[in-house]
Amino acid sequence: MIYVTRLLTDTAMAQVRALGEVRAGGDDPPARAELLERAEGARAVVCTLTERIDAEFLDAAGPRLEVVANVAVGYDNIDVPAATERGVRVTNTPGVLDGATADLTMALILAASRRVLDGDRLLRSRTPWVWGPRMLLGLDLSAGATLGIVGYGRIGRAVARRARAFDLKILATPSSAPPGDEPVEIVDLDTLLERSDVVSLHCPLTPGTRHLIDERALARMKPTSVLVNTARGGIVDERALVTALRTGVIAAAGLDVFEGEPSVNPALLELGNVVITPHIGSAGTVTRERMCGLAVANVADVLSGAAPRTPVN
Ligand code: GLV
Repeated sequence: MIYVTRLLTDTAMAQVRALGEVRAGGDDPPARAELLERAEGARAVVCTLTERIDAEFLDAAGPRLEVVANVAVGYDNIDVPAATERGVRVTNTPGVLDGATADLTMALILAASRRVLDGDRLLRSRTPWVWGPRMLLGLDLSAGATLGIVGYGRIGRAVARRARAFDLKILATPSSAPPGDEPVEIVDLDTLLERSDVVSLHCPLTPGTRHLIDERALARMKPTSVLVNTARGGIVDERALVTALRTGVIAAAGLDVFEGEPSVNPALLELGNVVITPHIGSAGTVTRERMCGLAVANVADVLSGAAPRTPVN
């Protein structure tokens, strides 16, 4: 039996059903008790980032479990060592969502820098307005601004390619990936924070990156700068960010991810200098087909005795 915790795209549901008996969830994430109960006896689990896959879950699934295929590139929802100990393969969906996530990153960079939502709110509030030389001024990306990319992997590089078209100078933190031929200056995090007009986060959430952007890091940023996070909420200390945005330590933020998802810190909702979206970085129609398809392909690989194509462990 293959347990699919939430409904995938129609195509992927058909593909997974072709592999054998499927126990499928619905549109919403299952409650914890239901998740544990429905996993029992599964040979494969296809899950999303809303499910916590830990030792308790793996034990509830039982000894038949061979693979957990996450429909996401990030896998901070999965206790990988616990899976490895039990001989369970874990897979993710790298590569297929770089473009979509980079596109949304650019949308947030542009919206936060150029005060798109302030303009939208102004008009919707029916406030009388007239063009003015001092009206709604924002950060000029193409007048020599610098973008700092924290986490220069596949998605960070996709953002850099797009940013070049906006004439942004690009800084990035050191990466283990082989250097590309992009004109990017590699600098340490503190230098990046000090020199960037826009800081965009693209590293995974790990114990080492939790609250990487804390009060101290925010204090290093320019008061005119913008912070964008399309990676994971936990990388930013949200309380420190709220204070920084309130007190002018930084100018604005664009956030697609939150520390306590799906709840959003109410203070963020009150701030006019924040653009927020509900974790839709990879929410393109084609991208979601690719993500779901890749997760199912990983299950097919493992159930047929082959190595999964995008393994985590
Ligand atoms: C989405 O957040 C992902 O990790 O794919």
